[in-house]
Amino acid sequence: MLIDCDPGLDDAIAILTAAVVADLIGITTVNGNVGIEHTTHNALAIVETAGLDIPVHRGAERPLIADAVDAHHVHGATGLGSVDLPDVHRTVASHDAVGYILDMAAGVEGLHLVAMGPLTNIALAIQRDPGLPQRLSGITIMGGAAVGGNVTATAEFNIWADPEAAAMVFRDAAALTMVGLDVTHQVLLGATERDRMREAGFPAASLAADLLDYALERAGEMRGWAGAPIHDACAVVAATHPHLFDGDLRHVEIELHGRLTRGMTVVDQRGLSPLGPPDTNARTLVLHDVDTPAVVDTIVDAVLALRP
Ligand code: RIB
Ligand code: CA
Repeated sequence: MLIDCDPGLDDAIAILTAAVVADLIGITTVNGNVGIEHTTHNALAIVETAGLDIPVHRGAERPLIADAVDAHHVHGATGLGSVDLPDVHRTVASHDAVGYILDMAAGVEGLHLVAMGPLTNIALAIQRDPGLPQRLSGITIMGGAAVGGNVTATAEFNIWADPEAAAMVFRDAAALTMVGLDVTHQVLLGATERDRMREAGFPAASLAADLLDYALERAGEMRGWAGAPIHDACAVVAATHPHLFDGDLRHVEIELHGRLTRGMTVVDQRGLSPLGPPDTNARTLVLHDVDTPAVVDTIVDAVLALRP
């Protein structure tokens, strides 16, 4: 697995999860929740805190066309809430996330790419090598929603932050699994999960507990929820435990121009017509159901398995 991310509270927990449930070979960073300096520093801090020997490659510092945006109101000024990170000694392996993605796709058999931030790096990689999707065993993205949004009534942050990149990826990335808000809002981690990780008492578990604490506070303040959606960890588990999810092949396109709908994943729910010609555009597996308890346990058990 290769993760492209914008840490980010939930990206951080996703990285810890992937280190256990997958063979996580590398991380690339992108501008998203916070700026590229912070997302990259955070990725280095996460792998160092957890003692993971996983390279971090720095990527795009702004969207393809849209103005750079952020989500510090959700993730805090630095992107990891109010967590006091230890000094980071790790350094980035390169400033060429796109080149790293292409090299790994060419050299690693069965590589699965999980994108959990704006899709800028992925779009740039496909621009540079249109054959990229065929060299991967799959692409799973946390992003979009068949219904609704979180940044606007119709758009989810990762798509909204760089809709032109998302439009390219959904058009050119062939078989794609979309883990949208439809499922991630069903997978909330709460105080029970926080306490399980807090009680473990080793660095990675304490970091995850601190991150979840902050996410719980924001979820409570912003939505009155008692649990926090750990969106990105759902995408990791969807790639490694697909049997815990259910979805349909749908034609998905990204709205770029709508005043109220820019950044919307327009999911054609009409499905394949039994009478008409096959809808060859229905190539995105849009997930809509999830075994919530099993996914929650998979995430927490993975973090607890990082005990040094
Ligand atoms: O909308 C949720 C997504 O946006 C997650 O990936 C979160 O980290 C933010 O990037
Ligand atoms: Ca993210």
